[in-house]
Amino acid sequence: MKIGILTGGGDCPGVNAVIRAVVRSAARRGWESVGLIGGYEGLLPDYKLPPRELDVRAVAGLLSRGGTILGTANSGQFATKVENGKIRQLPKDLLDRTKRGMKRLGLEALVAIGGDGTLSAAAQMHKHGIPIVGVPKTIDNDLDGTQMTFGFDSAVDCATDALDRLHTTAESHNRVGVLEVMGRHAGWIALQSGVAGGADVVLMPEIPFTYESICAKIAEREGQGRRFTIVVVAEGACEKVTPETRPKAKRTAATAASPSEISPPKPSEKRLGGVMGPLVTAELEQRTRKEARCCVLGHLQRGGGPTSFDRALCSIYGAEAVERVAARDFGKMVAYQGANVTAIPLKDAVGKLKTVPLNGGLIRTARALGICLGD
Ligand code: F6P
Repeated sequence: MKIGILTGGGDCPGVNAVIRAVVRSAARRGWESVGLIGGYEGLLPDYKLPPRELDVRAVAGLLSRGGTILGTANSGQFATKVENGKIRQLPKDLLDRTKRGMKRLGLEALVAIGGDGTLSAAAQMHKHGIPIVGVPKTIDNDLDGTQMTFGFDSAVDCATDALDRLHTTAESHNRVGVLEVMGRHAGWIALQSGVAGGADVVLMPEIPFTYESICAKIAEREGQGRRFTIVVVAEGACEKVTPETRPKAKRTAATAASPSEISPPKPSEKRLGGVMGPLVTAELEQRTRKEARCCVLGHLQRGGGPTSFDRALCSIYGAEAVERVAARDFGKMVAYQGANVTAIPLKDAVGKLKTVPLNGGLIRTARALGICLGD
């Protein structure tokens, strides 16, 4: 048996750990593994970079290494961006060429590591007769069908560390400290790090916010003699549409995509990073007359090595993907559901977002702790 491994979409901590787990598990079965460079494109006969043979020695040291040794792509021929409200269907000719590419390389199965875009393409390939298994990756944790994507825990850890640091400086200067984190359609990183990092305010795409609500929280804290406030803003957060906010040229729920509008997600959407954090900071400074500072965490959340939880999750996912290949249980995405690792049909995992449930445990915890969610 010879399998091909590829990584698609944005990188995140743990991609290399999955590659390592797949290669090691495959090797124990006596299989060969090949790493395709640059995502699915690496399968095509005319691709500029040849695939890389991966044996156990080649993946040594990858458990803790950030990024992906195979490179990745979130655009190009295999992008499944939304066109006219529907997921783009990959042309038959491209799927045929993919099949031929696999044959040429002697590959009997593929393991695709990626987010919604990569796994949507995988679902289409499976339908076209390509034997493929998916592994769910995204720091945003917004893939349906799994409680946890790998990379999320590492991103939360990074954001929590940033909040600890922001706390000490904001407190020393009596400032409002704003941290912008990733989270295009879902506020998982913002909420989980906000709870873990003791934030006072968490703004996320699921709950359009008002400045009145945030300012009331700041005033409440001032009344208690707490002269600093920590705000976490997901990059996809938006202001609630009211008659007052509508005419302004600001990003509000009316001008930004709301979670319900964004199903399924578009891989080639506009960049959101660095917009909402500074906007909220400037507005709060003006309204409260308090000094405020913004820190955009950006790609630091995607860089570096995985946490111990992610290392274990990646190892579990990689080993499970190989099990599925061995069982010829193709067209599946490995998934984490409570204490169990299982696999669900790819078609059921893609095209819909897993946003933060508004009455879920994490939201209830945040409210119970007095965290303002902007509503
Ligand atoms: O992986 C998704 C994500 O983390 C989003 O939260 C963010 O909008 C996007 O990646 C940024 O991607 P890029 O690396 O293309 O700027």
